[in-house]
Amino acid sequence: MGELMKKDQLILGIETSCDETAVAVIKNGREIAANVVASQIESHKRFGGVVPEIASRHHVEQITIVLDEALKQADVSMADIDAVAVTEGPGLVGALLIGVNAAKAVAFAHQKPLVPVHHIAGHIYANRLVAELKFPLIALVVSGGHTELVYMKEHGHFEVIGETRDDAAGEAYDKVARVLNMPYPGGPHIDRLAHEGSPTIDLPRAWLDGSYDFSFSGLKSAVINTVHNAEQRGETIAPEDLAASFQASVIDVLVKKTVDAVEEYGVKQVLVAGGVAANKGLRNALEEAFSSLEVELVIPPLSLCTDNAAMIGAAGSVMFDKGIRADLSLNAIPGLDIELFNNDDLS
Ligand code: KG4
Ligand code: ZN
Repeated sequence: MGELMKKDQLILGIETSCDETAVAVIKNGREIAANVVASQIESHKRFGGVVPEIASRHHVEQITIVLDEALKQADVSMADIDAVAVTEGPGLVGALLIGVNAAKAVAFAHQKPLVPVHHIAGHIYANRLVAELKFPLIALVVSGGHTELVYMKEHGHFEVIGETRDDAAGEAYDKVARVLNMPYPGGPHIDRLAHEGSPTIDLPRAWLDGSYDFSFSGLKSAVINTVHNAEQRGETIAPEDLAASFQASVIDVLVKKTVDAVEEYGVKQVLVAGGVAANKGLRNALEEAFSSLEVELVIPPLSLCTDNAAMIGAAGSVMFDKGIRADLSLNAIPGLDIELFNNDDLS
């Protein structure tokens, strides 16, 4: 009574760091008003991976179409938008630049604040589109380019407590899929195949005791050697058993390290983020591991695990509230550090 009605906050999110051109509109940091993703996977498939030049060209062709579509879906115009949030990095520099320049252009043309967002912060904040975050929390980030455990004591504050020393989990999936002659991106194919086989092949697990770091290159090499040795001996290995064995090895390490970190840090919530969070085996194993523990496990739906702009809008909303702004000198930073976003003075 007597209080002014608070206007809804609307953030436009833009994501072009890899092979998805994506624009979303996020209401009050947690609701998806629009979420449009134009995937380029078909164009990259025949090369067995993302070709940076092709990615950039697709982003240029798609960005204004996807932007218009997102505003239309949300049934808003740029005048209704409070701020433009864009992925500043990490990612492919040429791909990132298309999103950054599009964001700068619309922010300038409509006189809106520009908010830089870290891609991994985006993946983590995809969880806020399904549940309110409870701090302190730990996020298990498993994407094509990153595998890390991130501790968050509050909104917008990220502390990397462990990370991969070589390949990311998604990268290992994609490389193993290639050895098994499966199309790019290989993660979903291995996941499907793994459910048809049994983990009968003995593969290594890099525990790296005393650290929350990960390593998947030894496992990847072991899979490749297993295939080559069998070929040389004229034997055949059931691909579904190899997929199941590889997947079991990845999941065992991811789950154990996450459980250990949750116990050591005494957190209230565990978030799972990134493309590999779409993995059914991982989702089931985490659900089982956390079912008996006093901590809430949050895993976004598949469409919010892989690259999208809703997550950038969700993270952008928090960054906007923290007062984080960029001006028109904003540049793409391919190796951007997530801890640079911690600014205690602003929180
Ligand atoms: O987060 P993301 O969409 O892009 C990056 O920021 O890297 O992650 C893409 C990665 C790819 O390596 C892909 O193979 C993997 O996520 N991925 C999966 C599954 N779905 C996607 N890996 C395992 N199982 C899945 N179901
Ligand atoms: Zn990603």
